[in-house]
Amino acid sequence: MNSSPTSFPREKVSILLLEGIHQSAIENFDRAGYSVINRSGALSEEDLLELIPNVHILGIRSKTQITPRVVEASQHLLAIGCFCIGTNQVALEAAARNGTPVFNAPFSNTRSVAELTIAEVVMLSRRAAHKSQLMHQGIWDKSATGSYEVRGKTIGIVGYGNIGPQVGILAEALGMHVLYFDIKKVLPLGNAQPVSSLEELLKRSDFVTLHVPETPQTKSMIGAAEIGKMKKGSILLNLSRGTVVDLSALQHALSNEHLAGAAIDVFPEEPMTNAEEFVSELRGIPNVILTPHVGGSTLEAQRSIGVEVSDSLIGFLETGASVGAVNFPVVELPVLEDSHRVLNIHRNIPGALSEINRVIAETGANISAQYLSTHSEIGYLIMDVGPKLSREVKQHLDKLPANIRTRLLF
Ligand code: NAI
Repeated sequence: MNSSPTSFPREKVSILLLEGIHQSAIENFDRAGYSVINRSGALSEEDLLELIPNVHILGIRSKTQITPRVVEASQHLLAIGCFCIGTNQVALEAAARNGTPVFNAPFSNTRSVAELTIAEVVMLSRRAAHKSQLMHQGIWDKSATGSYEVRGKTIGIVGYGNIGPQVGILAEALGMHVLYFDIKKVLPLGNAQPVSSLEELLKRSDFVTLHVPETPQTKSMIGAAEIGKMKKGSILLNLSRGTVVDLSALQHALSNEHLAGAAIDVFPEEPMTNAEEFVSELRGIPNVILTPHVGGSTLEAQRSIGVEVSDSLIGFLETGASVGAVNFPVVELPVLEDSHRVLNIHRNIPGALSEINRVIAETGANISAQYLSTHSEIGYLIMDVGPKLSREVKQHLDKLPANIRTRLLF
């Protein structure tokens, strides 16, 4: 990380991390010259309203709710880091209108999900989960009936984004054939083969594993009709989102032995706390592995989330790069020597850009690099300008009606 002095001294940046964020993030900030306030629990809206006016960078996990009121009360909030995958706990549009990008860690637990998926493929193929349950009840059921190797079998991956290809790579290492179906055209890894329809994938696969996001199109995308198209004796895995599979249809197909097993990690309704009972029609069915939404929950993933999100936040502080922000125009420019960087966030209204260009031209500043990206409501402009006039440029931009925030970096 760049250790040269900046226009905004690192010791003045107030970083508040909540919910026991992994030490890897704290160490990363420390190495970059920032100190953090690290608290273990989540904060209520009232507590946040009190603290937020003095915070520049806020780090949360999934429990802290960043409401529009919290965003509006923040006076200096430069960025929010969600040290998790989901960002629906943050009022994203309000944050964008406030000029505050929100970063998350979409890739950090990819491998963890893929590993659990593959482990379950093998366990289910050997009926090991069922046999283990029986052993705990004192039943010794030594038999090869219904037990198969996975080598030479076909796994069909629905959703070939981050996790899907990792599952495919691991499956190939076990000698499996890999098919995938995605609504987007995506490059296969290894020997994986795309198929042209979900139906084709369901008909050809011995294992079907789901790795799609939750969207209106994926809601109940695997119901009675789709399960009916799967091979008799095949196995279904869902470690994606709980709404994707119709669990009553799955229960029916397992009970009448059309399917030989299932692994389900995510549910339409999940207990809010570990104290709540888990209720599901799948409880008690043999050869069904049920896990409490832990596909991505490993210590490696937590560590990697800490590094990934703190890297994004440090990058934004030091260079203005918004790559990875979920609610913000994406801009990244290499840092130029001998120039000052002006970061301008403005409302994306007609004439905003021509006004910006006009005031810059009036200062006579020399612009060595410039990049603009816009989003429905906001525009984000990064400019590298000559050191002599950078402050003047900022002062002019600050006064424009469309200006949300202008920051100077050097
Ligand atoms: P991703 O966004 O990288 O990939 C999803 C893929 O699904 C994309 O390529 C997309 O084009 C495709 N897709 C979307 N709609 C589709 C449809 N109707 N039919 C076929 N393909 C479709 O997502 P990623 O990171 O691979 O995650 C996949 C799922 O796993 C997500 O739902 C995520 O929330 C979930 N997840 C679950 C975890 C757990 O603990 N069980 C942990 C991490 C992610």
